[in-house]
Amino acid sequence: MLFQVLRALAVALTFSATAAAPVWAGASFEDSMAQRALACTGCHGEQGRAGPDGYHPRLAGKPVGYLYNQLLNLRDGRRHYGLMQGLLEPLPESYLLQLAQHFSGLDLPYPAPVPSTDAPAIAARGRTLVTDGDAARDVPACQQCHGKALTGAAPNVPGLLGLPRDYLNAQLGGWRTGQRRAHTPDCMGQIASRLSPSDVVAVTHWLAAQPVPVNAKPLAELPKLPPGAKELRCGSAPLPAQSATSSALTALQTRGAYLARAGNCQACHTAIGGAEFSGNRPIETPFGIVHSSNLTPDKATGLGDWTSEDFWLAMHHGQSRDGRLLNPAFPYTSFTRITRADADALFAFLQSLAPVAQATRSHAMRWPFGTQAALWAWRSLYFRPQIYEPLRARSGQWNRGAYLVNGLGHCGECHSPRNALGASAAATQLKGGVMVAQNWYAPSLRDPQAAGVMAGSGGYGIEATVQLLRTGTTQHASINGPMTQVVQGSTQYLREDDLRAMAGYLQSQNDPVTPASIGPQAAAPQERGARLYGEHCADCHGTRGQGVAGAYVSLAASRALQWPDSRNLIRTVMYGGFAPATQANPRPFGMPPFMLKLSDQDTADVLSFIRSAWGNRAAPVTVQDVTRERNRIGH
Ligand code: HEC
Ligand code: HEC
Ligand code: HEC
Ligand code: HEC
Ligand code: HEC
Repeated sequence: MLFQVLRALAVALTFSATAAAPVWAGASFEDSMAQRALACTGCHGEQGRAGPDGYHPRLAGKPVGYLYNQLLNLRDGRRHYGLMQGLLEPLPESYLLQLAQHFSGLDLPYPAPVPSTDAPAIAARGRTLVTDGDAARDVPACQQCHGKALTGAAPNVPGLLGLPRDYLNAQLGGWRTGQRRAHTPDCMGQIASRLSPSDVVAVTHWLAAQPVPVNAKPLAELPKLPPGAKELRCGSAPLPAQSATSSALTALQTRGAYLARAGNCQACHTAIGGAEFSGNRPIETPFGIVHSSNLTPDKATGLGDWTSEDFWLAMHHGQSRDGRLLNPAFPYTSFTRITRADADALFAFLQSLAPVAQATRSHAMRWPFGTQAALWAWRSLYFRPQIYEPLRARSGQWNRGAYLVNGLGHCGECHSPRNALGASAAATQLKGGVMVAQNWYAPSLRDPQAAGVMAGSGGYGIEATVQLLRTGTTQHASINGPMTQVVQGSTQYLREDDLRAMAGYLQSQNDPVTPASIGPQAAAPQERGARLYGEHCADCHGTRGQGVAGAYVSLAASRALQWPDSRNLIRTVMYGGFAPATQANPRPFGMPPFMLKLSDQDTADVLSFIRSAWGNRAAPVTVQDVTRERNRIGH
């Protein structure tokens, strides 16, 4: 580790050769959970004490199970907040739990309550609901679960004091309208729907007016039910579905499991929060939504009745067992290159999974794109089944790399330009393209100035590419957007020799360098962008864009900053994000979303500044570019 840090440091210094002396980013940098949670505390207030506005809830000191459940609810869509969902979506449960533990463990003072200005009758009604409930409406006393002191109970029931009125109203309102849900049994959903609107006002106003007791710690367990009280227990959410893989695999199945990693099958074939490989993940295409199939061996809804021949037909010909032509959102246009032996191993592995009964939802394609006639026409123009033919003149390692990149790895499905019908041509494979439906730019893997593998061993050579694919980050590059799931689900698990083979193959595919590929430089001077950078970014990325090894990616002499298409940069600043969580980097650092903090002009200015500072020489980002991203559907 120390060696890696030193090496990364050495590379960083070579790149910032213009800097007079190395200025280390934020002298206060500390490798801690608090540092990782900076992506959260921009909204949730310093250390998670709550934002100043009553809308961004407190996190500090809440029961760990409660916080963890909320992270799952927000990630999996039982609770809605787009900016948080985007941040949380790629994070695995193990990391969400650590974030929950971090905030739960903080013991910080609460703000003073807002004095009540309500009529005494309203306040009295609020207090009655809290202490006694309303038997006529079948509403239990809030204290029954939230505790006599209303400080909550470990692990899953939160306290109700110290929260702003607006926040409490929004939560009970959310449950009433179905906007907020919890794992079943969702008892708060039932309770909130039994309260009348005036009861909601009474109880939230009363709660917000109470001081928080000196000991605000949640009870160690749920309070005992008072005699005669009706049992309504909840707050013991089950953990999300575990891996369906059975433990003892044969050698063939083990090989299949590895190949499934190389093809990232589970990423597309697992719905968010669903059982692995059971399908129904919506895949967005420019022509509509395609739902992935259930690959578990369930007889009625999965591959239970399939033979290895049926499976081969799907992988190699893109045809289902019943003869239906499959949509190329299933990348059989790449998978067709795999050998029959590899397909059989994959099939053996999939058949070893526990069967999950889950019917696949029908696709939602715009007419005529989803029809069999359209698929037939598309395939006759753009698809030819073929098995990879090793080139005799090349080494075994080179051929292995080519096989993985163009076959199971399906790198070209995102990294190639596509025509209006979504097809890519052989001549432009891996030359970079826009993922239209997802609105991300996947840079060229054949241009070493974009994302190709540089000759030699510099910051973007073979070593660095292997490290990037294995860990998700290097000193000079950090994976984001749809590439996150490629690293998290696939390349981090590949053997070193396979990653090396892929990088070596990619290096051999480099196009001749075209020196004029970089646009006109931003007009100097750029004081405004520089000032914004110092205010919002330098704490993490360093005063000279040098970053912090192992934590914050360097922005100096960065390829990603100079890609011809700037949408990824705009998105990163607007939505923030975490580097991929991988075995080698299980607790990645995060960047906060700036969408609510920076205007479109600010974002354009700060990006234009960093695109032309510290060895970067790319064209400015305009305010129109930023506004276009903001207006895109999604948020
Ligand atoms: C862009 C602002 C923003 C960022 C960044 C953000 N959150 Fe949130 N978070 C919110 C808002 C707003 C809510 C309330 C949503 C609602 O009302 O349902 C929320 C709710 C939550 C809750 C539920 C709290 C409760 O008491 O019910 C948790 C837990 C949480 N966030 C944790 C995090 C963590 C961890 C991060 C960093 C990985 C994070 N948030 C980043 C805005 C943000
Ligand atoms: C049967 C147990 C139970 C009772 C009774 C109960 N609650 Fe809850 N409450 C919970 C649980 C469990 C949660 C956490 C839900 C989740 O995980 O989203 C919760 C969450 C809440 C929250 C969300 C807090 C936050 O930080 O976002 C509010 C507000 C709330 N309850 C208010 C009430 C009020 C008001 C009453 C009385 C009218 C009440 N509860 C009665 C179990 C209960
Ligand atoms: C980029 C997303 C994606 C990836 C990666 C992916 N699939 Fe799929 N797959 C799909 C979609 C979408 C469908 C449904 C196509 C349709 O119904 O027309 C599908 C369908 C299939 C089918 C046909 C099932 C049937 O009932 O006809 C098989 C078999 C299959 N995939 C196997 C795999 C295997 C094995 C891998 C990994 C090597 C894999 N897929 C990787 C998206 C993907
Ligand atoms: C699902 C689409 C998708 C697939 C499949 C995919 N990529 Fe990417 N890749 C992207 C996008 C989008 C980016 C730009 C975002 C980023 O920088 O991480 C990217 C970025 C990269 C980068 C540059 C990272 C940097 O910041 O310099 C490399 C290298 C890369 N991909 C290699 C690969 C390889 C090798 C494969 C095949 C194993 C692959 N990609 C498969 C979408 C994809
Ligand atoms: C709390 C620390 C933090 C702050 C503050 C921060 N960033 Fe980041 N930034 C990160 C992390 C962590 C990543 C890697 C995220 C990923 O891989 O998805 C990142 C990634 C980036 C990237 C993508 C670089 C690449 O190689 O792909 C850009 C561009 C960027 N930040 C610009 C900014 C700008 C501009 C600001 C100020 C407006 C800023 N950052 C503020 C932590 C931060």
